[in-house]
Amino acid sequence: MAAPAATQHGSPDVDAAGQQLFDELIAQDSRIEPRDWMPEAYRKSLTRQISQHAHSEIIGMQPEANWITRAPSLKRKAILMAKVQDEAGHGLYLYSAAETLGTARDKMTEDLIAGKARYSSIFNYPVLTWADIGAIGWLVDGAAICNQVPLCRASYGPYGRAMVRICKEESFHQRQGFEILLELANGTQAQRDMAQDAINRWYAPSLMMFGPPDDDSPNSKQSMAWNIKRFSNDELRSRFVGMIAEQVRALGLTLPDPDVRFNEDTGRWEHGPLDWEEFKEVLAGRGPCNAQRMERRREAHEDGAWVREAAAAYADKQARRAATATEAA
Ligand SMILES: [Fe+2]
Ligand SMILES: [Fe+2]
Repeated sequence: MAAPAATQHGSPDVDAAGQQLFDELIAQDSRIEPRDWMPEAYRKSLTRQISQHAHSEIIGMQPEANWITRAPSLKRKAILMAKVQDEAGHGLYLYSAAETLGTARDKMTEDLIAGKARYSSIFNYPVLTWADIGAIGWLVDGAAICNQVPLCRASYGPYGRAMVRICKEESFHQRQGFEILLELANGTQAQRDMAQDAINRWYAPSLMMFGPPDDDSPNSKQSMAWNIKRFSNDELRSRFVGMIAEQVRALGLTLPDPDVRFNEDTGRWEHGPLDWEEFKEVLAGRGPCNAQRMERRREAHEDGAWVREAAAAYADKQARRAATATEAA
């Protein structure tokens, strides 16, 4: 298909032609690329979603990074360091994907630091024991995979492509978490108790990572119409419950929810009630670790000022050299 004649908003003719091509691409389940015309609402909604996702990856480094020095062996330390570095990489791909929609990374960072941008509620819970690192890998990265595999087919090209690589790394993260729990589950009674306690605390928050129930999720419908989201929050949550209900048996541990069951009539996994008031509180900045996470992020940003200055000075120097070389040629 030919490239659209215009990519800018302004003239009604251009907007109408652009909208028509956009609608066709979506109807064919094709991809929208950065230079294509797109409705402002699509651009805005994606910018919000991708930047929130990027912020989550970056803030998500904190709870686990706190345990690098306390990992029980050299092997565990190396694995955890690699995982935390992967999360930094995920943040960078996603900021780059969001930048193709026209918002600079500096602006996204400013919004995060000013407390104007959201990130996943899950990273505002404390990481109390080594078993929590296992539960985070298994449940939090596991929920992330369920959410993100369908995003590999998101209609916006740069987002979908970033998700492909991210999902490969997330699947390694989930396995390393499961393996930590498996080792604890086969250890002493105290280790088994520690693993069960971690699962008990991370279970409900990980289910809430899929977002509010479908009847309370106003943006989902539009996002599905645009082929960004492929499955509803409740659908994805139900798949996740099914996955962990099977896997927890291999651990010889249990989920802290007596209502988990497979409903033969609907073909879906069900779970007990979740505390959506708590979810809203955490999202509003009043969770157990919100203040600490934001403070640490601000400090890291200030500490990195000299790196940004040096990188900008270097880029200037390179640009001046290139200009001089062009003049001399
Ligand atoms: Fe990640
Ligand atoms: Fe991860």
